[in-house]
Amino acid sequence: MSRKLEGKVALVTGSGRGIGRAVALKLAGEGARVVVNDLDAIPAEEVVAEIKALGGEAVACAGSVAAPDFAERFIGTAVNTFKAIDIIVNNAGYTWDNVVQKMTDEQWYAMIDCHLTAPFRILRAAQPIISKLAKADKEAGHRVVRKVVNISSVAGLFGNAGQINYSTAKAGVLGMTQTLAKEWGRMNVTVNCVAYGFIKTRLTVSAAGESTANIDGREIKVGVNPDLMAMLERSIPLGRGGTPEEAAGAVYLLCIPESDYVSG
Ligand SMILES: NC(=O)c1ccc[n+]([C@@H]2O[C@H](COP(=O)([O-])OP(=O)(O)OC[C@H]3O[C@@H](n4cnc5c(N)ncnc54)[C@H](O)[C@@H]3O)[C@@H](O)[C@H]2O)c1
Repeated sequence: MSRKLEGKVALVTGSGRGIGRAVALKLAGEGARVVVNDLDAIPAEEVVAEIKALGGEAVACAGSVAAPDFAERFIGTAVNTFKAIDIIVNNAGYTWDNVVQKMTDEQWYAMIDCHLTAPFRILRAAQPIISKLAKADKEAGHRVVRKVVNISSVAGLFGNAGQINYSTAKAGVLGMTQTLAKEWGRMNVTVNCVAYGFIKTRLTVSAAGESTANIDGREIKVGVNPDLMAMLERSIPLGRGGTPEEAAGAVYLLCIPESDYVSG
């Protein structure tokens, strides 16, 4: 049986763990060659090794998406290694919560930089390459549909107490998605967004407040209070949070040919 993404080149930020890792493995399983990114080389290289062990092709591009030179490096890795760009998944992210009166500028800008400025820079850096590829496809008489999937959150759709920085950035992702859907339709690029509710990853694992992760040189608390988690799960129609693999399914649907007329 032919695979849905045979030979496509997919770039996935924050794919060393969680949802991004599941997306990278899912796309690779359908034949895509993947550029794997995470903050540190180790998780990124581990996912590259997993993909290769399954017979796929992948390359790592480690580093923070918030670094000013990251976008050029990320796009350059795809072009230099695989000579193309077909799918971009802007997934890297974390939360750094506080109520508005206690939130510092540093916390505010950390979320805007990671969730909003980074995807903006990546898509801006990809534009000339995609434009060139789209022109070449047209001249050759090929119809190729490329895909962008940006990751947002229900916090961006409805707001969430304690997350003014994160929810504002994730709401901005919707505006970016809808704008680029309009700008890039002429290049045959669909631009969509998946806004997750509650997916069980390091970001949301049950934590009594002790777990931290080093992100961009800062120790950031990860995990959700167990009581809050139980309450959250009760409010979900399916009665539980999703797995990273289930979350990856939504991104996958927006990357396959069946969604070629779904955009914005
Ligand atoms: N888990 C949920 O319930 C949930 C809900 C809504 C939205 N999201 C979004 O889904 C995305 C993935 O989150 P997850 O739940 O898989 O979390 P996760 O912590 O399991 O994985 C996120 C990965 O992104 C990486 N990362 C963080 N900041 C980065 C940076 N600056 N540069 C490069 N990599 C970076 C982390 O190291 C990590 O490996 C995020 O954008 C998050 O906001 C998650």
